Formats: sequence, C-alpha cells, structure tokens
Amino acid sequence: MTEVEFIPSPYTNDLKSGKVTWQSPSNIALVKYWGKKENQIPANPSISFTLSNCATTTTVSYKKLEVPFSGFSFDFVFEGESKEDFKPKIVTFFKRIEKYLPFLRQYHFVIESSNSFPHSSGIASSASSMSALAMCFMDLERQIVPDMNNDYFLKKASFLSRLGSGSACRSLEGPLVEWGAHKDFQDSSDLYGVPFSKEVHSVFQNYQDTVLLVDKGTKQVSSTVGHGLMHGHPFAEQRFEQAHENLGKLKSVLVEGDIDGFIDIVESEALTLHSMMMTSMPYFILMKPNTLEIINKIWKFRKKSHSHICFTLDAGANVHVLYPESEKKVIYDFIDDELSIYCQNGQYIHDCVGFGARQR
Ligand code: PMV
Repeated sequence: MTEVEFIPSPYTNDLKSGKVTWQSPSNIALVKYWGKKENQIPANPSISFTLSNCATTTTVSYKKLEVPFSGFSFDFVFEGESKEDFKPKIVTFFKRIEKYLPFLRQYHFVIESSNSFPHSSGIASSASSMSALAMCFMDLERQIVPDMNNDYFLKKASFLSRLGSGSACRSLEGPLVEWGAHKDFQDSSDLYGVPFSKEVHSVFQNYQDTVLLVDKGTKQVSSTVGHGLMHGHPFAEQRFEQAHENLGKLKSVLVEGDIDGFIDIVESEALTLHSMMMTSMPYFILMKPNTLEIINKIWKFRKKSHSHICFTLDAGANVHVLYPESEKKVIYDFIDDELSIYCQNGQYIHDCVGFGARQR
C-alpha cells in the first residue's frame, strides 16, 4: 500500500463520545533498525520478536468538541498522574498523523496510559506506548468508518505507530514482524510492519526472552540522536547492506530451525548496533561493565552446557536473554544463580514471544 491510501475519504459518520482501550506489547529486534531517512523511513529493514508481558495499556476517552479547536485538545495521564512533560511528544505525533486521521482536532481526548513493566526500568517503552495509542485512534476511526477491513486497519495502525516511534510499527502483530522493503520478503514495506508469513520451525515457537535490567537510569544518548548519527557515518552503507544480508539469512534460519545460525546472526546484530554507536561522531557507549560481564557469562555457559542461550541488546545497557522454551528451567536457574547479580537490585523480567496488540 502507498502513503496516500492511508488518507481517508471525507467522513460521513459522526461519533459524539466514548472510550477505547488497547494493550500493546514491546518488541525485541533480531535484525536491528538503526538509521533513518525523513518521515521515519528506515535506512535498512529489520525484524523482531513481539513480546508478551512487557506492554502498555492505553485508554482514550473522546468527546466531540462543540467548536473545532485550532490546536489539539487532550489530557495525558500516566500511571494515574497527569503528565504535562509527556505532552509535547504527543503533539509531535498528532502533527505527523493528522493528515491520516483528520478527526483529531474535532475531539477532546483523555489519554490514560500505564506500563506492565516497572517504571523507569530502562526498557524502551516507546514501541509499546506509541503502538497502543495508534491502535486506540484506529479503533476510533473504524467506528467512524465501520466497513473498514481488518488488513487496512492493521496496516494503517502500524503505519501510524511508525510515525510515533519507528520500532513501534512492529508491535501490533506477532510472533515475528518484519519492517522495511526487502527482496526476500513479499509485501514488505518501509511504511509499516508485516507479520512473518512463513511457517516458523517449532524450535522458535514460544521463544523466551528474559530482560536483565542492568541500568535503569536514563540513557545518555536517545535513539533519535543515535539514528541521526548514522548520517555520514563511515560504515553506514556497509551496515545497511549487512542488515539486508542478515535478514535474508534469518528467514531460512527461522524456517529450517537452524538455532546455531540464529545465535550467530542475533548476537552479531546486537554487537554491530553498539559498534555503530562507538564509531559515530560523536561516539558513545551505552553498554555498562555489567552488560559485558553478562555477555561473557552467557558465552561460557553456552560452551559448557551446550545450551542454545544467546543475547541481544537494544539501545541501552540491558540484556535480552533469548532461549528456546525447552531450556527454560535450566536457564531460569542460570539467570538466578549467575546473572541476577549483575542486574540493578537483582531485577529481571521473564517474557516470551507474543501476538501483538489486544483490545481490552
Ligand atoms: O524506534 P526507535 O526510534 O526507538 O529505535 C529503536 C532502535 C533499536 O531498538 C535499537 C533497534 C530496533 O530495531 O528496535
């Protein structure tokens, strides 16, 4: 689908007031998105596991304004508290999406949001929060346009989520979502995420992800700045090409159940992401000493126990530990005994792959 197809025809229906609630999960990229063009168009394609437990629940209450407002009329409440400082981010999002949702200036909204994971755990919450919000607005549009088909609904919701936060467009469905045009992925698009269409080998079903909370503080460099530093980066072109290659390889790995191939690609992608940060100008490091301690422990344990445990990283110090469900018990013990000491206050979150956004 093209961008113009997401601009609706003039509405013929009207809604006075109501309320919608959606829950949307976070996701963890296996092939990383790092670098973007204008309008949140990714510099390279990516793929992620949709998570299950790490999620945002958002309720949007809406009331038609008597007189349309020149700005955007809304209140934002996060975990029960009114949050004025979050509002500019939402206004930016509204400005980006109003062309596609022309009703936005006609209502007063109360947006109430909460996360399932601990507050300021360092987990990137923009994917879950932006996708939950996009789903609420799409639900509203579907009520105005009741004959909207489900495919359009999901694609447009992903398209809008992308305009909130790039990776958010991969959170609506599951267990695997690909985003960005790639020759081996039919229907792939830079505009929205599409679910992985092939049958995934049973070894990758219900894959586990334990998020080790190494550093719960605010990041020194935001992902927006990090993406920007890929412009003029000396290794950018090779990196974008590598992402295309890795995605092509990962496709067969997932279908064939080649778990060793999976480990190679996923760990290399994580370290490449951080190498890009370290070789940007200005350069920066988001890993912490404990991130490296954990990586080394995982490698040692894998060698000793012949387990299929591996790690990935997002744009921060936390470590995502990935493993098949069949090894869950042994790895839970390993995490408890040997990895939890490297986590802030011993905290970690057991999660697993999930199926995307749900209406509540
Ligand atoms: O969606 P953003 O702009 O926060 O970027 C996310 C980038 C990574 O998490 C590092 C990688 C990815 O593909 O999710």
